Amino acid sequence: MTTSTQPEQRRILATAIPGPLSLERQAQRKAELANGLGTTMPVFVDRAGGGILVDVDGNHIIDLASGIAVTSVGAAHPAVTRRIAEQAARFTHTCFLVTEYDGFVDVAAALNRLTPGDHAKKTALFSTGAEAVENAIKIARTATGRPAVVVLGHAYHGRTNLTMAMTAKNVPYKQGFGPLAPEVYRVPSPYPYRWPSGPERAAEEAFAALKDIVTIQVGATNVAAIVVEPIQGEGGFIVPPPGYLKAVQELATEHGIVFVADEIQTGLGRTGAMFACEHEGVVPDLVTTAKALAGGMPLAAVTGRAEIMDAVAAGGLGGTYAGNPVACAAALGALEAIESEGLVARAREIEERVLPRLAELVVAGSVVGEVRGRGAMLALELVEPGTTQPAPAIAKAVVERCHEQGVLTLQCGTYGNVIRLLPPLVIPFDLLDEAIDVLVDAIRGVR
Ligand SMILES: Cc1ncc(COP(=O)(O)O)c(C=O)c1O
Repeated sequence: MTTSTQPEQRRILATAIPGPLSLERQAQRKAELANGLGTTMPVFVDRAGGGILVDVDGNHIIDLASGIAVTSVGAAHPAVTRRIAEQAARFTHTCFLVTEYDGFVDVAAALNRLTPGDHAKKTALFSTGAEAVENAIKIARTATGRPAVVVLGHAYHGRTNLTMAMTAKNVPYKQGFGPLAPEVYRVPSPYPYRWPSGPERAAEEAFAALKDIVTIQVGATNVAAIVVEPIQGEGGFIVPPPGYLKAVQELATEHGIVFVADEIQTGLGRTGAMFACEHEGVVPDLVTTAKALAGGMPLAAVTGRAEIMDAVAAGGLGGTYAGNPVACAAALGALEAIESEGLVARAREIEERVLPRLAELVVAGSVVGEVRGRGAMLALELVEPGTTQPAPAIAKAVVERCHEQGVLTLQCGTYGNVIRLLPPLVIPFDLLDEAIDVLVDAIRGVR
């Protein structure tokens, strides 16, 4: 998995983090870049690969982020970089809407094969996740002739106008950016840890609320699509209770509503199944993918039932860069690595290795209220000890402590109190264990 082109797979603290060279660049960044661009860990990266990011000061940082669930195969997998180089040397762009190339069709065929269900499927490629979600809605609206879109509380679907409306959290994603797209309706997320009448009631009561909103308040004949993340990502790695997704999918089918699984963060092996829907035996009508699809290159897709995908007339879908040939080449390399290196199974091994260690932190009076997740998509929800009150400041302190120690972790959650772990699936296990040691120490040291 690791080749000589990849950095040494070892945590090295060469300087304080951030080091002097990163700090110098931060000053320049501040002068040159718009304030609206945030940053999680203020280091500039020089090289990356496997489970390591090397910053400009020579620090080797253990990567528990994968560029937000993108570099599942690592940031410089040879199967990806070789194909990128070969393709770039042949041509970088034609625009698939102008003249065609094999890579686009090959990626579509791979997604048609890999996504859940053995029905006839078709795919359209785009560049970003938000674009894929927008296009899934365009397709669903055309196929049904209906306007409404139903989404969940705690959802995250992107930053474009429609996907911003579909996203739940206001600050920082929506504040001041309105008016937002209309015809988006929100139903409660079945968030087991925070469900008012207890986790065991979440599936049934959340489904009843969804059914009421879909069939009575909006009217099922107005609903084009119900869009769900099979594990909610930015909202806090919320795993829906068993049976919920299946019930929603069946309701959608009963009423001719397109069931869209947004697998942009969960898809392509991350959760220990090729698609997270598979854990629940759910076959979506449409699936959106991006992130891990192309090993770090911008590529996204909508894949689904052929008759739904074909509803939009020629010319209605596309984009200048949609399915760029270099990104498609990268995707073929990433998919080859995921399949040939058994990375879906490896995500399950990561869960088996990490989850029990995190679970030990959930004791009476702990800042860790819950640990959850699937595969290599794991999270800790931090709370004020002895309560379920979200503790974002504690989460921030833990994340910062990890960063100082050369371990990149991310915060998420509607309340900002969730620490999420998204290691590359290729991360060496000794590195993973060491990163978890650092995280556990940071949590134990925080209070
Ligand atoms: C579930 C989900 N949908 C959509 C998006 C938007 O993807 P992008 O940032 O590529 O537009 C994301 C990004 O985090 C996501 O997690």
